[in-house]
Amino acid sequence: MKFTVAIDGPAAAGKGTIGRAVAAELGLAYLDTGLLYRAVGVQALDDGRGVIDPHWAAEIARRLEPDDLERPALRSARASAAASKVAALPEVRAALLDFQKRFARREGGAVLDGRDIGTVIAPNAEAKLFVTASDEVRARRRAAEMDGGQSLGQVLAEIRARDARDAGRDAAPMVAAADALLLDTTDLSIDAAVAAAIAHVKSRLPQGGA
Ligand code: C5P
Repeated sequence: MKFTVAIDGPAAAGKGTIGRAVAAELGLAYLDTGLLYRAVGVQALDDGRGVIDPHWAAEIARRLEPDDLERPALRSARASAAASKVAALPEVRAALLDFQKRFARREGGAVLDGRDIGTVIAPNAEAKLFVTASDEVRARRRAAEMDGGQSLGQVLAEIRARDARDAGRDAAPMVAAADALLLDTTDLSIDAAVAAAIAHVKSRLPQGGA
């Protein structure tokens, strides 16, 4: 069976939690595509002593290995900012395209979360969700995850800067696919958001279930 679930949306809206839960419920493989850009961004910064060279970043993207996605440093604010900078480079996106497209169509089905899954990576995905929440709620959730290293105001400013870069870039900007279900999690508990996502995805399964 091939069945793709595309989950897009801005930073800290709940895409990862929802994506993992949908994958676990339906027995699908899961890919957090943000990790690809985070890994490229961090390596490009480290190798270039703080300056990102587009050609070198694309080379890093071509050479990514599964272990590169496991580094704890990928969750830092530095990695978030570096990710959204390399993600604006068409060379980097091109280098990561085939891997993501193949993952989306793997046998057994897959859930991918990111910014361009429903529009570029898997425009024919069987189920699409665009997960959002207010800026303030997203900043509060991210600040809670980050254990107090930054003030709420700093986290909010970073999230807004990153959203603006992700939505404003020319290469595969963050935008809801026309056929995506819009899921606003501002006033939803995690359980309620997950339940709504699972109900939508199940409604898109071929007759007879997965
Ligand atoms: O989802 P996450 O916050 O980990 O993504 C980090 C950054 O990677 C995003 O801000 C965005 O710039 C980039 N990204 C992207 N396309 C994706 C996934 C992530 O451009 N499919």
